[in-house]
Amino acid sequence: MTNAALNRKYFDAIADSYDNKPWFAKVNAQVSEALRSKLEWVGIPFANTGASGDAVEVRLLDYACGTGLMTRTFGPYVTVTRGIDVSQGMVSTFNKRMEDAGLSSETVYAVNGDLFDKSNPSPPEFSGQEWQNFDLATVGFGFHHFEDVVHAASQLKERLRPGGVLVINDFLEGGDMQADENGKPIEGSKGNHAIHKHNHNHGHAHHGDDGKHAHSHSHDHSHHHHHDKEAKHDTDETSAEFKQKMNDSIVVPHFTIEGVKKFFTEAGFVDVDVITLPERSYMEFAGIKVWRTILVAKGRRPGEKGEKSEL
Ligand SMILES: C[S@@+](CC[C@H](N)C(=O)[O-])C[C@H]1O[C@@H](n2cnc3c(N)ncnc32)[C@H](O)[C@@H]1O
Repeated sequence: MTNAALNRKYFDAIADSYDNKPWFAKVNAQVSEALRSKLEWVGIPFANTGASGDAVEVRLLDYACGTGLMTRTFGPYVTVTRGIDVSQGMVSTFNKRMEDAGLSSETVYAVNGDLFDKSNPSPPEFSGQEWQNFDLATVGFGFHHFEDVVHAASQLKERLRPGGVLVINDFLEGGDMQADENGKPIEGSKGNHAIHKHNHNHGHAHHGDDGKHAHSHSHDHSHHHHHDKEAKHDTDETSAEFKQKMNDSIVVPHFTIEGVKKFFTEAGFVDVDVITLPERSYMEFAGIKVWRTILVAKGRRPGEKGEKSEL
């Protein structure tokens, strides 16, 4: 069986058990389906699509990989995947799942790391060929956790080959609807309902929204996210402590389409585009039931066709 077939087999098999929460599995399925139907929009040659221009080798960097949503989504259409995540717990879960699926570490594995640390912008452990010239870089639901999104996007651009593409997903500002007790969307409740943060307005424009979003100073990249198994088992998600931990990990709750376009462009990407998934996704955050709109953005590292970034 080819690597891609093994990928497909594995990811199809774990689709339901990917996360214990039924709503999370649904969100993942929704995202995967949407992205797999958008391979042409992504705009790089993929493997195993059946098209005449299929690539033989496609290398994916799944940054902030978590337990592997983006790896799973693009797995069938790439041949090599490397994940990086700042949480060792996430990395271990990621690697365990790949191993359990019988995938070799040559095909896919993740490591603990951080490419966004400004005091260590070129970590020696990522200096080898293995960590350069990716065809595709992805970040699933990660950018709202990043302190400086222009820096983040720019660091990821450096890991792409000329012409390589960054694809991210995140939440749309103003795209939420409140859910009632049974989880049904409440008419007329369109707005921002998922995360309540105090807006300090420090003028941090780097989130691409002119600093008007909430900004957390006590940013803790190392905490266990709300998807994390341990957090799920050990912590009452409605407790003040859990809410605080969750809020501390989040720099902004959401992005505008213009904001995302702006930070991609500032980071030097071209062919930038941002779309939203047609249906909202049901989620629960620390006891808050909400329907959220997911946005997907892409940008290409200039170079392949000789075009220049505007910066
Ligand atoms: C909401 S989870 C998303 C995980 C996965 N990409 C997904 O879509 O399900 C966010 C992930 O970002 C990781 N993360 C946060 N800041 C990071 C950083 N600076 N570098 C690498 N990973 C980071 C967290 O450890 C966490 O696994």
